[in-house]
Amino acid sequence: MKTIYLDNAATSFPKPEAMLSAMTAYQRNVGANPGRSGHGLSIDAGRIICEARESLALLFHVEDPLRIVLTKNSTEALNIALQGGLRPGDHVITSGMEHNSVMRPLRFLEGRGVELSVVPCSPRGEMDPEDLKKVLRKNTRIVVVTHASNVTGTILPVEAIGELLQDRPDVMFCVDAAQTAGALPIDVEKMNIDLLAFTGHKSLFGPQGTGGLYIREGLDQRIAPLMMGGTGSRSEFEEQPEFMPDRYESGTPNTIGIAGLGAGVSFVLEQTVEAVRAREEELASRFLAGLQDLRDEVILYGPQDASRQTAVVSFNIKNVTSSDAADYFEEQRGILCRPGLHCAPSAHRTIGTFPRGTVRFSFGFFNTQQEVDDACEALRELVKRKGKPGS
Ligand code: ALA
Repeated sequence: MKTIYLDNAATSFPKPEAMLSAMTAYQRNVGANPGRSGHGLSIDAGRIICEARESLALLFHVEDPLRIVLTKNSTEALNIALQGGLRPGDHVITSGMEHNSVMRPLRFLEGRGVELSVVPCSPRGEMDPEDLKKVLRKNTRIVVVTHASNVTGTILPVEAIGELLQDRPDVMFCVDAAQTAGALPIDVEKMNIDLLAFTGHKSLFGPQGTGGLYIREGLDQRIAPLMMGGTGSRSEFEEQPEFMPDRYESGTPNTIGIAGLGAGVSFVLEQTVEAVRAREEELASRFLAGLQDLRDEVILYGPQDASRQTAVVSFNIKNVTSSDAADYFEEQRGILCRPGLHCAPSAHRTIGTFPRGTVRFSFGFFNTQQEVDDACEALRELVKRKGKPGS
């Protein structure tokens, strides 16, 4: 049985050949520690990191690549922004569609005296920026929202939020782009984003263990580093360097991973984000259209409109648990997906699927129309077998 990988929201698979060869080439031909020793191979390793940073800067319209801190994932990036940027007495605003990578640090900080407001979203996961405006306070320091939900794919109005925060320079606007970096156009200037957290292993086609945080110039003194240690720079001082990105990058980096990330981002730049988006939108649209005749048996969540969501679709089949459905898809159809709560209980509460969860199919750039049709056919078959009302 052929495998159909529909779990790209968890991590993209497969990866471009160039990503695999960049990682092998680094380990085979370079292998040294960047920014540490000053010999030729160390300089080559440093160059690989520098090039990856430059590609990321190009993708996100960041003028100075050194404003991008490389991390091991978006969770680490968000923790730097939130734990580093909030103090007791500060107020932070988020949405009702967040992943635990946002909610857990915020709940922890709430326990330490940070005030938290959660802006409710509609059952489709949509947010009205006006609702956010209403809860802004004098002591609001950060607004943090996901660019798109990992549960429903719903795209949040990041540009509109950025615009309404323009007259509040004391508020840092932090965007969780785990689901969108590489999949939707992101321009930190146009969107007025101060802090952009992203992962490398989803739509940037890098390996797991890579990610980063863009920090707008002038904000680093407001964000304490999460970790300190050796940076290969200013070795004569026992204090952490103040300059970017060393202030936030301590310890030997994941150079082999960053080599892969750089190649993944180059792949996106070559294809163009617009083309990636067009392809994924087409796949999601085909899937949604293919389910129309099953609407009595299949409950769809999110916007149900490919132009207002990423290629992530959550659904439930009447009288079938999400884990039973996922087992059926894998065992009988070779379809790999993610059931349950997707580390996002808050989002599931918003859409009314807590604690039951949903089945999530997430399409990616390398999926085909045939695979989408096979996925629809698999749903039809499962509905026929088990989904009859009352069964
Ligand atoms: N956050 C990832 C997901 O949604 C892992 O599956």
